[in-house]
Amino acid sequence: ELGGYNHFMQKEIHEQPRAVADTAEVFLDGGFIPENFGKNAAQVFQDIDSIKILACGTSYYAALTGKYWLESIAKIPTDVEIASEYRYRDVIANPKQLIITISQSGETLDTMEALKFAQAQGHQHSLSICNVMESALPRNSELVLYTRAGAEIGVASTKAFTTQLVVLFGLSVTLGRMRGTISDEKLASYTQELRELSGSIQHVLNLEPQIAAWAQKFAKKSSALFLGRGIHYPIALEGALKLKEITYIHAEAYPAGELKHGPLALVDENMPIVVIAPHDGLLDKVKANMQEVSARGGELFVFTDLDSDYTSNSDTIHVIRTPRHVGTLSPIVHTIPVQLLSYHAALARGTDVDKPRNLAKSVTVE
Ligand code: F6R
Repeated sequence: ELGGYNHFMQKEIHEQPRAVADTAEVFLDGGFIPENFGKNAAQVFQDIDSIKILACGTSYYAALTGKYWLESIAKIPTDVEIASEYRYRDVIANPKQLIITISQSGETLDTMEALKFAQAQGHQHSLSICNVMESALPRNSELVLYTRAGAEIGVASTKAFTTQLVVLFGLSVTLGRMRGTISDEKLASYTQELRELSGSIQHVLNLEPQIAAWAQKFAKKSSALFLGRGIHYPIALEGALKLKEITYIHAEAYPAGELKHGPLALVDENMPIVVIAPHDGLLDKVKANMQEVSARGGELFVFTDLDSDYTSNSDTIHVIRTPRHVGTLSPIVHTIPVQLLSYHAALARGTDVDKPRNLAKSVTVE
């Protein structure tokens, strides 16, 4: 069942080139057309003026990432909320707002109740992005697109997350096409990026030995900080969640620009700082933030890419280079190293990787 791997989590991390390609096939073979989301999706997508995404945990971080694409590619205002918070507040219902739920299991009670609450408030349009066929969320939604990750058994979500991101990207391009916010050239380049995604993920998987070497150092630490900016901030959040879930090391994530507003006080030589620093428009800002950390004695573990000119000039700055900058889909590619880092840190600490203490795969209680 493990197919030569030691844990389901490791197997599922390594299945991502396949899982992502299978999920992308919907768009690459069928085109970025509304019908991928359901028979009357074209009508629904024409009716809506905004989107709200509801989810929990890792699926919530997928939603946060998706917001960047929905707003930059499709220019559609998008809110993201933790399902368990949304359901307990006074909301302003908007019948023209599409409610999207994201869930691996499709059975998360908080997300399900949030959807019912939205519907009871007068939201008419709903879309479920889900990995389990015919589970509660897709059954109760008007539209659905299934991720094709295959069964995810490890409690820590990995391939479900990256495939959710593929669907959110596909949705953004689909809506962008319908709304005329993307040119034909842009469409061609998005298509090409999606085609190349699995290969880029495979390249990162090949860096596993280097990442495992870093993980040995993390295993001895009691706390870690993850930094990212822009669309890579949710990936920092996901990295911190993975680390705490399976290694029980306290971890937090911050948008790097927030450091000086508080968390810089935590920085010392004992707390490793992981930075997601791809070659995008924010790299110079991130470099300045890393400088702030170094100046206070912090040890940096930086994931950058082959296009970036960032190099280490000190033995407390460690750099791993992911493949060439992959543009819009960079957050998907940069998820892989933080998954591997947590996995190998957990191995070094001897924790139960696939069944972390106190957690369940599907949370069907409040
Ligand atoms: C993290 C993790 C959880 C789930 C969350 C939502 O690795 O697995 O945070 O992401 O419980 O679960 P789903 O996606 O099934 O609704």
